[in-house]
This record gives sequence, structure tokens and C-alpha cells, in this order.
Amino acid sequence: MSFVIKCFECGRVVEERLADSCPACGGLLNVELDLQEARHMSLGKLRRRPIGVWRYAEFLPADRRKAVSLKEGGTPLYDCRALAKEVGVKRLYAKHEGANPTGSFKDRGMTVGVSMAVELGCKVVGCASTGNTSASLAAYAAKAGLGCVVILPSGKVALGKLAQALFYGAKVISVDGNFDDALGIVKQLAHEGQLYMLNSINPFRPEGQKTLGFEILDQLRMEMPDKIVLPVGNAANLWAVYKAFTEWQCLGWIEELPQLIGVQASGSNPIAQAFRAGRRDFDAVEHPETVATAIRIGNPASGKKALKAIYDTGGYVTDVTDEEIISAQFLLGRKEGVGVEPASAASVAGVIKLRREGIISKTEKVVCVCTGNVLKDPDTVIEHSGKIHQSRADLDDVRRLLSSLG
Ligand code: F0G
Repeated sequence: MSFVIKCFECGRVVEERLADSCPACGGLLNVELDLQEARHMSLGKLRRRPIGVWRYAEFLPADRRKAVSLKEGGTPLYDCRALAKEVGVKRLYAKHEGANPTGSFKDRGMTVGVSMAVELGCKVVGCASTGNTSASLAAYAAKAGLGCVVILPSGKVALGKLAQALFYGAKVISVDGNFDDALGIVKQLAHEGQLYMLNSINPFRPEGQKTLGFEILDQLRMEMPDKIVLPVGNAANLWAVYKAFTEWQCLGWIEELPQLIGVQASGSNPIAQAFRAGRRDFDAVEHPETVATAIRIGNPASGKKALKAIYDTGGYVTDVTDEEIISAQFLLGRKEGVGVEPASAASVAGVIKLRREGIISKTEKVVCVCTGNVLKDPDTVIEHSGKIHQSRADLDDVRRLLSSLG
């Protein structure tokens, strides 16, 4: 698929394929595909291919034949009837991105990002991460035979994610700062030529993440939901989903865009604050805090793009407390059997809050993007779960214990 890279802010065409920002103004980069090449495709033909990221190859910058793939995408879209009833909406779907190969939506961007890294001749890739990006990058780098460096905020990465980065053989460096500090360091290493950065400001990552939007619509047989709700950290995923729909709109495959709703944690909420003030830019939150460590980000790298996506779709941004996040996480697990990590549950918590406030109405069809698997963060689950009941290995003792539990 042919494409150009353009600056999202000054519009300049950037020839340098390895760039992570505009050489002229420092702005965010954006891939613009030549959609003419997709015009010969029909949705019918597309849907006969196996479901997954590469079903949508005409909308991806990398060469499908050389893709570094672990069979990402094709995740379940659950029709959550019991939860919809509880929340008070017509339909509530959970798109379970935790079912991806490394347990989060990051794999969609990484299959494309690492494929591009190989095409561009890079030998070492790297990222800063709150955990999931590092887990995903480490796995795809292993598959591609590339070196991998990940920089993590000390003590704030959930256990499962840390285990994955180590397991797949990345060089793991923990810094005594937050994600925003870690990202600054990785950018410097990239500019020194020590690694190719695969954070979501890399213009190729959101291209893969777009397939989340395609897939939701595909699985709903092209019946557009009223709202799609996503947790927001760095804010690239919300942009990616928006970009997906604008491309299909450009081809005439859909008429309208769904309203996109971003949900942040109230201790890490720069985009929600900007939206409340009606602004297109945001002020960073100095010391972000939340139990949802995946979205513990004060200075979202793609924040400006996400705000554009929100305004263009008539969307909304809200924030939810840690208590609301954990309560939504357990509600989804116990009503629907769907296990997601705290950041992912922010989307469900957001729907509950916005339904209460009347921003979402009871006649609406809503999709919650559940970005990561419950197993990513076992510590938080155990901390908020009921206790384990200890017994002797004796049938009568177990019977007595069970009856005392009611
Ligand atoms: N949900 C989960 C589970 C995440 O890991 C992230 C981001 C997000 C939501 C937010 O997505 O940044 O595109 O708005 N995690 C990144 C990481 C920052 O390093 O793993 P976003």
C-alpha cells in the first residue's frame, strides 16, 4: 500500500521514513494512505479472508507477505445482555482485546510497527511503557529476531506485563520516574540512533490499531453502534479508531462516524480537563496517579489527535475514579465472565457514569473497548477480591467451612 507521512500539525510531507516527529515543527506524524488502491476491494471480498489485523491489508502501510505476525486481532465482541440491563442501555458490547496474543490491543499496532521496522532495516527496537506496549514489543521483536529495549516507570508496572517483557528477552530498564519521563529518554535514544522507537507516536503503530475499528463494524455486520467508548492514556488508540472510520467513510463504505467517547482516570485526566474547557489542546497533569497503571499518563503524546477525533465525531470525554474503575471491572467479570484489567474497565465505568448523567441514553447501542486481559494485573484483582478460605485437607472440615459460608 503506498502512503505519505505528513505532519498532523503543519501539514508538511515528511520524507524521512524513520522520523517520529516533524523535522520542521516537531509535530505529530500521520500516515496518509493512497486509498485509490483499496477501491478495487469490496467489503464482501475482504470479509472472506480470515479475521484479524491482516484481513485489512489494503489499509496498512506494511507488506502483508512479509508481515511479522502472531495472528493478532479477531478478538471476540461480546453481546453483554446482563450488563446492558444493569447499566440501562439497549445493547452493550465488550470488544475483548485481552484475547490478543500478548493479552492487549497493542499487538494490532505492533504487528504493523515491527513489520515496518524490519522493512526499514532496523536492528534494535525500543519503547517506554506502562507495561502492555513493552510486553507486546518484546514478543514481536523476538519473532522478528530484533534486539529490544524497554524503559518502564519503576514500581508502577503490573506483574503480568513485567513478566512478559522479561520472558520474551527484552532488555528491561526501570527508571525512577513516571511514563512521561521514560518516553523522554526513549525519544533521546532513538534520536541518537540507538533504537527504532515503537511507541504510539510512531506513525505506523496507529495504522495497525485502526483494525480495531474495522473489526467492530465488521463483527456488527456494518451496523454502526451509537457510541464506541475507549480508555485513554497516550490517546493514540482513540485516534486510530477514528482514522479507521474516516477511511471507510472516504471509500463510501459507511455514511456516518460513530461518536467516540474517551474515558480517563480522574487522577490522570488531562484530556478530560481539556474537553470540559472546550479546548483542542491540553495541559499536562504533573503527577498522574491511578490504580489503572496502564493509563497513568499525565502528558498524552497523541492528545491533540484524540481531541480532534472527539470533536469531529460529536463525542465526549469523561473521567472516573479508581473506585468506579474497580467496581466496573468486577461487574464485567461477574455478570459476563469477561476478565479485563483495570484500565480496560475504565470504558465500562465511563458508560455507567455517562448513562447516569444522561449523555448516553437507554435506547443506544454502545461498544466498550476492553483493552487488556485480567491476568495482566493479578495483584489488583487479589487486593480487591474476597479472601481465600483455608481448611485442613479433610472432607468434614471442608463441608463445615462451606456451610458456614452460606
Ligand atoms: N488500556 C490499556 C490496557 C493500555 O495498556 C493502554 C496504554 C491504554 C488503554 C491507553 O491507550 O495510550 O492509546 O490511549 N498503554 C500504553 C503502554 C501507554 O505503555 O502499554 P492509549
